[in-house]
Amino acid sequence: MAIASWNSRFLTGIEIIDCQHEALFETVNTLADAVKLNNASPRVAGYLEVLARQTQEHFTTEELFLTESRNRQLRSHLEEHRALHAKLLELQTKHAQGGLVSADVALFFAEWFAHHIAEVDMVNGGTNWKPGATPGA
Ligand SMILES: [Fe+2]
Ligand SMILES: [Fe+2]
Repeated sequence: MAIASWNSRFLTGIEIIDCQHEALFETVNTLADAVKLNNASPRVAGYLEVLARQTQEHFTTEELFLTESRNRQLRSHLEEHRALHAKLLELQTKHAQGGLVSADVALFFAEWFAHHIAEVDMVNGGTNWKPGATPGA
């Protein structure tokens, strides 16, 4: 069973953000499967790398929207992004040095993304997102 389950309460209405969020859920599930199969496998390092790259791309995109919408909680929102990015880097380093990634790690990401999207990205009913907004427009 997938540990990160996507549902409509995560929809912001901004297509690129919703696609990126959904892709992050898929990668977390793939990472969880790889860890379950063999957490010493190089595939785990590969999926951590994919997750780190997708997360970085997503945060960059999202932060453009958040900055343009002059969101009041921007500072604390960005701090959450930075903390997750740091956690990913720490795990990648640990795994590269022979440390094992436990199943709890995939669960941590599943819970982090579900909580962050529902409670932070969608704060105040999704007012972070200007309808039809395009960064730079
Ligand atoms: Fe997000
Ligand atoms: Fe966010």
